[in-house]
Amino acid sequence: MSRVKVSAPGKLMLLGEHAVIYGKPCLVAAVDKRMEVEVEKADKDMIEAPEGMDLRFVKMVLKKFKRKYGKSGVKVITKNGFSSSYGFGSSAAVTVALSRALFELFKIKISKKELFDFSFKVVREVQGLGSGFDVAAAVYGGVSYFVKEGKKIEELRVRELPIVVGYTGVKVKTAEVVRQVAELKKKQPEKVEAWLEKVGVMVEKGRELLIKKKWQELGKLMSENQEILRRLGVSSQKLERLIGAAMEAGADGAKLSGAGKGDCIIALVGEENRKRVEEAIRMAGG
Ligand code: PMV
Repeated sequence: MSRVKVSAPGKLMLLGEHAVIYGKPCLVAAVDKRMEVEVEKADKDMIEAPEGMDLRFVKMVLKKFKRKYGKSGVKVITKNGFSSSYGFGSSAAVTVALSRALFELFKIKISKKELFDFSFKVVREVQGLGSGFDVAAAVYGGVSYFVKEGKKIEELRVRELPIVVGYTGVKVKTAEVVRQVAELKKKQPEKVEAWLEKVGVMVEKGRELLIKKKWQELGKLMSENQEILRRLGVSSQKLERLIGAAMEAGADGAKLSGAGKGDCIIALVGEENRKRVEEAIRMAGG
């Protein structure tokens, strides 16, 4: 009996969170931590998953696949390659890995964009919101320039990315933070729109800097993006502590990654300062 094993990576937001919801582009990077899924044909659908895993995504993939392709009867085994608390996008990664595995199991050929579209619909139906940048990272890997709902996905030729990630230990509800930004935008539309506009410009500039490997300038841009995220009210004391520690230890720039209020920070760091920055983030409680 044939078995198919697929894995898909988690993500980080290099530049452009929140603004991406309002139509601006963003830069997303995949991380080297992956969610794993194994499938094989069975008499009926069965799911084996680690305790505490949110099974809504797995169930929705199976449901949509059956509805669209008339295929079911699958045993699914999922494995966590990283904790769902980090904000690395474990749900999107599981959705993409399982979808891809099913297409392979039933020998249906699809392109990356078709895999993105199928997986994105699953995630949207379960979550009700989200730009889909996490799905793009899981499908394409590497670093991409992304416009919401996959209106544009451009894979950038970036092989290395000198960043350090620090985890706050605080789990956030993305929907809640997105709602807070929407409220602020309602109250102060002109101000917020001007900030989002600025972020869009930063992303365009960041795209060029990434391609040219101008790391220090990219770091500066990340810090500028963080300033706007502060104004949007999505930073936190813990995030600021880790960002401050990274900067003091010699990072070229640092910002939160994702919705904010918790999850992770990313710091752009030259090789000569990497160890110092890692240690400083740890000392600051990350
Ligand atoms: O909380 P995360 O890591 O899923 O990131 C959310 C990023 C937002 O731009 C706020 C929302 C989105 O889906 O793009």
